[in-house]
Amino acid sequence: MPNPIPLGVFGYPAGHILSPVLHNGAAEALGVDYHYLAYEVRPEQIGEAVRGAQSMGFRGLTITIPHKVAVTEFVDEMSEDVRLMGAVNTLVFEEDGRIVGHNTDGIGWLRFVEETTGEYPKGKRCLVLGAGGAARAIAVKIAQCGAEHLEIRNRTAEKAAELARFVEESIPGAKASSGGLENLQEAAAGCGLIVNTTSQGMWGDAEREAASPIPEDAIPESAICSDAVYIPPDTAFLKAAERRGAKTVRGTGWLVYQGAASWKLWTGTDMPTDLVMQKLLDALDKRIKGED
Ligand code: ATR
Repeated sequence: MPNPIPLGVFGYPAGHILSPVLHNGAAEALGVDYHYLAYEVRPEQIGEAVRGAQSMGFRGLTITIPHKVAVTEFVDEMSEDVRLMGAVNTLVFEEDGRIVGHNTDGIGWLRFVEETTGEYPKGKRCLVLGAGGAARAIAVKIAQCGAEHLEIRNRTAEKAAELARFVEESIPGAKASSGGLENLQEAAAGCGLIVNTTSQGMWGDAEREAASPIPEDAIPESAICSDAVYIPPDTAFLKAAERRGAKTVRGTGWLVYQGAASWKLWTGTDMPTDLVMQKLLDALDKRIKGED
């Protein structure tokens, strides 16, 4: 029997990476012969590792922290989203030898928001909390969708200002402004969409896990609230949003849908997202209970 077609993720460290759960779950459910593994690749060896994977017949790779920006040097072509987001999360080894860099973070997020809420950022006032890599992917997507206005707030206000400037300069018609984390009540008033990309709410530190990036009473009842944090799946922010009667969009869905977009680029098939989501939730549950 021929070996399965290799896929994988390059990160450093790599022990905590969950994407094998998604992609091996999809391969098994669809009965297709792909096998996906996590590889720990040191930053100084990322170029060698990418070329090695290509020589070894990999169909593609997920690229994660800390390689997402550095790997742009080793691609022959990059998608428009990579150019705008400044980072690669997916490589495709094309049959003609080209290495193509993609970024599925923004489109995965957008598809999941649409599927969960039936709504789209177009015409909405939007608030993004945080100004790191995830914020950039979301800010670009929100602006591309034709949001009415984008407000970016971050603990380090200068990073939010840089991102707002970048969005206005790069996306025709985009309107963005920025600030620190003070007066979030004012920033959120009239917002139809609030996205948390900070690490507030994340499991692993009790104080951080209990924290919402925005006070509960600042969340408008009519807002869609989306969290990048996926462990725990129901974060302090999403619980607060639910109490306000707002629509919530879990980070687990974002994780699955960005993976589904990568899977489609590699295999041409649709990831069975409901089934894969259940596998992810089981894996997260084990992690929280210390069983993995
Ligand atoms: P990612 O690529 O996931 O976006 P990142 O680039 O490390 O990760 O960004 C993390 C974000 O969480 C940043 O916006 C960070 O704010 P700073 O730019 O001021 O560092 C934000 N963040 C981290 N810890 C935070 C905290 N305790 N309170 C508020 N924001 C926090």
